[in-house]
Amino acid sequence: MLLNASGCLDGLTAPDVARSLDAFVTKTVTPLPRDGNAPVRIAETDVGMLNSIGLANPGIDRFLTRNLPQLAALGVPIWVSVGGFETDDYADICSRLDDHAEVSAIELNVSCPNVETPADSAAEIVSASRLATRKPLWAKLSPAVPDIAEVARAAQASGADGLSLVNTIRGLKLDERTLRPVLGPGQGGLSGPALKPIALAAVATCYRATQMPIVGMGGVQTGLDALELIAVGARHVALGTVLFADPDAPARVRAELHAAAAARGWNAYEDGYAVAHEETLSAGATLDERSSV
Ligand SMILES: Cc1cc2nc3c(=O)[nH]c(=O)nc-3n(C[C@H](O)[C@H](O)[C@H](O)COP(=O)(O)O)c2cc1C
Repeated sequence: MLLNASGCLDGLTAPDVARSLDAFVTKTVTPLPRDGNAPVRIAETDVGMLNSIGLANPGIDRFLTRNLPQLAALGVPIWVSVGGFETDDYADICSRLDDHAEVSAIELNVSCPNVETPADSAAEIVSASRLATRKPLWAKLSPAVPDIAEVARAAQASGADGLSLVNTIRGLKLDERTLRPVLGPGQGGLSGPALKPIALAAVATCYRATQMPIVGMGGVQTGLDALELIAVGARHVALGTVLFADPDAPARVRAELHAAAAARGWNAYEDGYAVAHEETLSAGATLDERSSV
């Protein structure tokens, strides 16, 4: 399945792009409306994009009355990204989404680098959210933790159905002339090409640790990038920063993905699922065989 990464596509201003995906993921919704951080909130770097949006969103009340009905009219499954500042925020929003048949899944954003207050632990948030809703729950994790496998296992034990990997990682850009930060709040989340090796490592590690379904994202620009994420264990792939430069990316990446799979003699790109791990195993098996001779 090909999705957008949360916050990287406005389904209401670009409905055709949203319709070209297999599911649309909303910008993270919080309990109360948020204006987000002070401008400047977006900056280009040599290796990707920095953003410090700070979870600007209409808040859950307005989201439910205004945004959700319009998003549902798109005709694609809707995943709602949920954020907050403490565990109860997540649980409250999940319980309010639970009765909405038009919501296919909930992504718990337990990893935003652009909000000051650290959220409670991922495990606590997932457990409380699990009690609040029957919807599929995807825990979106940060790669900027000492041991992402441990966080993934905790999310799994707490009732998550899948993982979304990865969120952005903190970065800083200085103005060349003044040598002061370009972004209003100083630092922001780095996305785009620089994130790809980090995303590949996170997906590979969490696949090995949990075998859970994973939405892989981080620096995907081409079908081959998407196939690499699938090869390390992603069931689904999300497009983020690439959508700002290329709104046609969903159709292009899909076509490139099929071509990249066909070039490897596969009928479908799903045949590439987790192959990177098989090669590691068979290389190990060969070594074992040799050592046992
Ligand atoms: C402008 C912008 C806004 C974002 N907003 C959110 C958000 O609201 N919630 C969230 O979970 N991730 C958010 N992200 C992170 C993306 O969903 C994604 O995890 C990240 O950008 C990595 O993918 P990419 O390299 O393909 O962009 C945002 C990213 C960008 C660039």
